[in-house]
Amino acid sequence: MEFVDKIVIVTGASSGIGRATALAFAEHGCFLTITGRNMANLNDVSSLCKNKGAKDVVIVKAEFKNLEDVESIVHATVEKYKKIDVLVNNAGINVVEDLENTKMTNFDLLFQVNVKSMLRITQLAMPYLVESKGNIVNVSSYCADKHVPKFLLLGMTKAAISQLTKTTALDYAPKGVRVNAICPYVVLTGIARDRFDTREEFDKYYKDAAAAIPLGRIGEAEECSNAILFLASNKSAWTTGQCLVLDGGKGLVS
Ligand SMILES: NC(=O)c1ccc[n+]([C@@H]2O[C@H](COP(=O)([O-])OP(=O)(O)OC[C@H]3O[C@@H](n4cnc5c(N)ncnc54)[C@H](OP(=O)(O)O)[C@@H]3O)[C@@H](O)[C@H]2O)c1
Repeated sequence: MEFVDKIVIVTGASSGIGRATALAFAEHGCFLTITGRNMANLNDVSSLCKNKGAKDVVIVKAEFKNLEDVESIVHATVEKYKKIDVLVNNAGINVVEDLENTKMTNFDLLFQVNVKSMLRITQLAMPYLVESKGNIVNVSSYCADKHVPKFLLLGMTKAAISQLTKTTALDYAPKGVRVNAICPYVVLTGIARDRFDTREEFDKYYKDAAAAIPLGRIGEAEECSNAILFLASNKSAWTTGQCLVLDGGKGLVS
């Protein structure tokens, strides 16, 4: 792929899908900005990226509850590299609640971290992406338009992300900027692990989830990063406004 010397921002790169994505871009010789809150993890990912071939890595410690932190991601990138070619909006959180138990504080939290922060970084990065004729890949979710029990708030935020993807794609197509998203179903990462108190609950959830997926297993972070790199590359130069579902066929049977 053609990412040599490109400037790529990956949010939420300290673990899971974002980590896999940063490592995959690094193999193609780009300059990276990676974000997260856990500095030990970010330093680890940065070293691995450099070993794999990243030309340089800027680490931005950013709490998405604070818009100033979000804004500092674009500022730090432009200060260092002067341009942006690819923005991967991946950072996100979940809470597991049904309607009855939904806390309004969690509504505010999820919309702040998952949606408002993504909107703001997109807004700030867009002039640079117009300049570079670059592109954006957002990390949405299967639950953006499918029912997953107790994922009410997450689904609402991911539906907003899918809409941000489509609207921005149309608004910026005339300026040569593509905007796409991936919509994964269950992938084994920190966000998924943190939901469970015990190993037994965790094992049962994944066994049941795998059994309900036509391909018979849950997804891997690298399968998400493969799709992100494809959407960010010229191999999908005629693709914009798409929300690519990665679900092992689950959506066909539910
Ligand atoms: N795993 C799945 O099954 C699945 C399915 C569909 C969609 N997704 C989406 O994939 C994306 C990545 O999640 P993941 O599965 O890779 O989970 P993960 O391993 O928990 O990674 C989440 C990333 O987001 C960062 N983050 C979390 N809260 C943040 C906050 N308040 N401010 C700034 N950064 C924050 C984390 O940083 P720190 O750890 O450094 O705090 C981490 O880098 C999310 O948008 C998620 O909704 C995941």
